[in-house]
Amino acid sequence: MASRMGGGRVRLALAALGAAVLTVPLALALTAVSRAAEAPTATRPAPVDWESWHADNQVSDIASLQRGARNFMNYCEGCHSLKYVRYESMAADLKIPVGVLNANLVAPGSSQADYVSTPMPSDDALNWFGKVPPDLSLITRYKGADYVYRYLKTFYTDPSSPTLSNNLAFPSAAMPDILSDLEGVKSAVFRSVKSPDGSTQTEFDHFTTTSPGNMTPEQFDQFVRDTVNFLDYVGDPSQVERRSMGIWVVLFMLVLTGFAWLLKREYWKAVH
Ligand code: HEC
Repeated sequence: MASRMGGGRVRLALAALGAAVLTVPLALALTAVSRAAEAPTATRPAPVDWESWHADNQVSDIASLQRGARNFMNYCEGCHSLKYVRYESMAADLKIPVGVLNANLVAPGSSQADYVSTPMPSDDALNWFGKVPPDLSLITRYKGADYVYRYLKTFYTDPSSPTLSNNLAFPSAAMPDILSDLEGVKSAVFRSVKSPDGSTQTEFDHFTTTSPGNMTPEQFDQFVRDTVNFLDYVGDPSQVERRSMGIWVVLFMLVLTGFAWLLKREYWKAVH
């Protein structure tokens, strides 16, 4: 009896030892595995995926469109025209009072009845940039609001370029980084990536700010979104009215459906 109990204890002790011998290396191996999985993210954050950025602009946001109009007239109109937009129709759509329009938005030498033109002579532009800055009336129509947003947010310094800057969305763009006093000056950090065929390629990794601008990153982002929102409106001015009308159409349909249902109930009363 006693020896059987003793044997039981020995077996129990052996089992415990066996479990310990097995679990300790297993636990060590597991922590090593999880550390290995964490390691790359700890030392190298994922590259910034600028190609998935969206403008997320709302053409129904009139305050944003007003700010965008101001941004455009202050920072873009020096080089770019909007040849399908008359100042006064823009002011009417964006609920900008005529006094504010004439005092702040109409370019010197233009009147409120004029189309938005640029004072930059094409010959000068050709001399300075090697290209005439395009009219931006339809830019969001053929390249998309997201493209313009990414374009305005991905300028970086490049001493080898004639403009001393470059752009991720539009490599070798002839447009200088004209918003750097607001955003700050950025450098782009690239990394080498091995392709399956063995060749190495450089890919964009992230930006670093080398000297800060007048705006915080949030303020600059809002500035760009408002500007893109305005250009989206410019590409299709009737959408402002259409979108605000949409809600009334839906309400009207709902009320109509209600009446139709009441009428149907009235007609079928006698039958049921
Ligand atoms: C100093 C002159 C100048 C100013 C100011 C300027 N641009 Fe440009 N922009 C250019 C030139 C030059 C090009 C032509 C680039 C090319 O084709 O290489 C251009 C091209 C563009 C394009 C077309 C890019 C493409 O893919 O074809 C967009 C969009 C644009 N500018 C937006 C703006 C906006 C918005 C502003 C104001 C925030 C602005 N630009 C201010 C000179 C300017």
